Amino acid sequence: MSLYVKAAEILEKAERKQGALKTLVYDSKFGNIKQLFALVCETQKFSSILQEIIESTKLLKQTKLKMHLAKVLVYDLLMGQGLKCGGSWKAIMMKHRSRMQAVLARMKVKQRVSRNEDLLPARVQQHAGDQVPRYVRVNTLKTTVEDAVDYLKRDGFSYLGEAVRLDDLALKKKDFVRDLHLPELLVFSPKTDFHDHFLYTAGHIILQDKASCLPAFLLNPPPGSTVIDACAAPGNKTSHLAALMKNKGRLFAFDLDAKRLSTMSTLLLRAGVTCQQLANQDFLKVDPESQDYKDVEYVLLDPSCSGSGMLCLRDTTSADPEKEQARLASLASFQLRCLNHGLRFPRLKRLVYSTCSIHRQENEEVITACLQQNPNFRLVPLLAQWPERGLEPLSQCLRASTTKTRTHGFFVALLEKHSGGGDSKQEAVVQMSGPETTLHSPPAGEKRHTASEDESEVSEVEDKLTPTAGQTDSTASKKKRKRNRKKKKKKAEAAE
Ligand SMILES: C[S@@+](CC[C@H](N)C(=O)[O-])C[C@H]1O[C@@H](n2cnc3c(N)ncnc32)[C@H](O)[C@@H]1O
Repeated sequence: MSLYVKAAEILEKAERKQGALKTLVYDSKFGNIKQLFALVCETQKFSSILQEIIESTKLLKQTKLKMHLAKVLVYDLLMGQGLKCGGSWKAIMMKHRSRMQAVLARMKVKQRVSRNEDLLPARVQQHAGDQVPRYVRVNTLKTTVEDAVDYLKRDGFSYLGEAVRLDDLALKKKDFVRDLHLPELLVFSPKTDFHDHFLYTAGHIILQDKASCLPAFLLNPPPGSTVIDACAAPGNKTSHLAALMKNKGRLFAFDLDAKRLSTMSTLLLRAGVTCQQLANQDFLKVDPESQDYKDVEYVLLDPSCSGSGMLCLRDTTSADPEKEQARLASLASFQLRCLNHGLRFPRLKRLVYSTCSIHRQENEEVITACLQQNPNFRLVPLLAQWPERGLEPLSQCLRASTTKTRTHGFFVALLEKHSGGGDSKQEAVVQMSGPETTLHSPPAGEKRHTASEDESEVSEVEDKLTPTAGQTDSTASKKKRKRNRKKKKKKAEAAE
């Protein structure tokens, strides 16, 4: 089926709230997921403007096109990369092009703006993806941060060192920095495209939003542990878990959706993950008492959600509020069931729960209900220096957003088992030691705590070489960075 028919179909389903845009894109059987996702997101973002152009030119009446199809075609013709189709649609669109261009030009004159983006309502402009940097997670199964930085410097990027403030993540052109919260994350200017870059195609870097890196980072399963990724596809968090585990231990990954799982196995292969056992299975039907799972100590639960934190989904046409509430209630009930199920593994120590939703109903309310039903679990307070917290009273949890954290909207909670004594608390601190863990807040009182993925595009696995050995940072600069990290750690500890 053509790109445009597929895109129109997805927009229509999304409007009818038949699923999150991203899920609908992944569920489509389309060959180029990345291209489809970009088209659908952009068309949706400009939806109201496209509608105005279509209505004022009476395009539907004159062409017999349906609204959603007209929108994607008009988007690509006037604002995108030009029509990629031929045949009768192209002929029709070309016939009406100059009238539509004139309407668009009039809209700009009226609003005294020059760019298409400036026509968007302020709230949409604010959310536009160009505010979020391009985050790149270095895949430590295949390379090191130092080698990746060196490779990128040789490739014409300018490395500005480690960020110390969020403002340092506002980058221009070829500049890049190392993230201030997640040590294996490099940050670039928003429009930087790595899809054809060697480091990406060879699996040395993973394109993953910063917020989406939080769950595995915070769960931090040590090498050799037994871990479940309950709703795993397309697998960015699974590969992150495997990297933290250094491919040692057992990593069970479940997903209901066979197609997404198959995408996932390609991604994991490219990322060099070997400790995983993938299963096309309903997590709710995984038996916690079975021999296979008796040693599970860590669970990452990133269940299906409304996707309301994904930037490109924000300009959705206002849905029927009652239907929307019913949808959220149904998602929350599924999420709570998954959460309760995840806590049933007999040797479980920690479970991280995350959504790319901004709704309290899918986040804090699910966690609150879960804690009420599972009094032997508590929240671990997370990253003291993270600027956006869970809504009160769940300030142990983290939220993420474009405005406060320069990421997509996200929520993360970390639950840990407590037996009433102080041992489990101590254990959690020990497990978190290591370079990353300096960023976790130490337990406050008796509590502890604990992020669209938009990036799991399918891409062909290429078997290429690692960046040249011997071109890593000098020992002196490594030592300097280590000293800086120690200084930062001390500062953070003092601040707490
Ligand atoms: C938000 S996505 C997961 C994204 C993934 N964690 C990542 O980082 O790439 C939610 C996933 O849950 C899967 N899912 C939904 N219900 C499920 C269930 N009962 N058991 C297992 N997987 C499920 C969906 O197919 C979807 O792939």
